[in-house]
Amino acid sequence: MDLGHNDGVYPSGSWCTMSSSISFFLSQKATPKIALLGAQGQLGRCFIAHGLANLVALSRDEADLTQPQKLAEKLEALAPDLVINCGAYNLVDKAETECGPCADVNTLGVMHLAQICKKIGATLVTYSTDHVFGGPPKWDTPETPIPWRETDCPQPISVYGGSKTAGEYLALASWEKSYVIRTCGLYGIPGPGGKGGNFVEAILRAVAQGKLLRVVADQVCTPTSVISLVGATLELLQHFGPGLYHLTDQGFCTWHEFAQWIVAEAGLAVEVSPLNSADWPAAAKRPNYSVLGSIHSANPLFPKLNPWRESLKDYMKQRLS
Ligand SMILES: NC(=O)c1ccc[n+]([C@@H]2O[C@H](COP(=O)([O-])OP(=O)(O)OC[C@H]3O[C@@H](n4cnc5c(N)ncnc54)[C@H](OP(=O)(O)O)[C@@H]3O)[C@@H](O)[C@H]2O)c1
Repeated sequence: MDLGHNDGVYPSGSWCTMSSSISFFLSQKATPKIALLGAQGQLGRCFIAHGLANLVALSRDEADLTQPQKLAEKLEALAPDLVINCGAYNLVDKAETECGPCADVNTLGVMHLAQICKKIGATLVTYSTDHVFGGPPKWDTPETPIPWRETDCPQPISVYGGSKTAGEYLALASWEKSYVIRTCGLYGIPGPGGKGGNFVEAILRAVAQGKLLRVVADQVCTPTSVISLVGATLELLQHFGPGLYHLTDQGFCTWHEFAQWIVAEAGLAVEVSPLNSADWPAAAKRPNYSVLGSIHSANPLFPKLNPWRESLKDYMKQRLS
């Protein structure tokens, strides 16, 4: 549902840092109060770096999704207009044997958060994943799969994917002012917490350690920079009402192609060998095709993120500076 308008304050494509740019939808306040959960992860840190006014950044210790009572007290005291949840249990392989702890954060934690937001009247933004899709894609032509859209039925094939799928439903069902944003292949400057890294950093670390690079070449996704995602989230909030959205950088590649471009952007002459996922020992199954499209993509107000290679180039420059 498109509830907003482009009033010229926040032109599409410019990642403006003025919090007034998101005030149209959230409230009539010039600077809505924002509470950010999961502040030490890569997405959380990027929101902080964006410089939004009136933002309170909360680490896991200060706002734990598995402690609903304390979380409610904290958020009631802060009385934010908007809660942005960047907290998640993201250890995809470990989740296969830690189903309970994973669901406590991604499913029950998100449900409790949505209920608290409802109680205090705060709009909620929470993130989900391409891993909600694990089945075979539909095909446009024999060569071209159709990117998954918001109206497609999730079919997770891992504990992590299942926990996020359930969390999505519970957020949307618990509170009508919930935005659930699915994204894919996130990377950004890693924080001290969370997974403590991402695919880009893992590849560069492996090169530095002189390891042979073998990367799966039969899983297609869209790498997405946290910088793109933060900007697109703020743009979405200005122009669109609550609901389920897909936001990723543009284009797609295999993880093998992504690794080749990381190495090339870093100016390294290192070979990256292709690998079949069947030959890669991982506890959790990954989707073979998890490119996300959107039913809103034809709407000129819907955020249009960068082509993924441009975002990667920018990230490589940023991490070297
Ligand atoms: N990374 C990806 O490739 C990817 C892809 C698609 C979607 N996503 C989604 O995007 C969002 C952001 O991911 P990210 O890459 O920024 O993750 P991240 O770097 O791993 O950060 C996750 C954050 O969640 C916090 N956290 C863990 N358990 C918590 C709890 N019980 N209560 C509150 N916070 C808790 C962590 O706290 P500590 O600092 O204490 O560890 C960490 O700061 C998540 O919803 C994720 O599922 C990520």
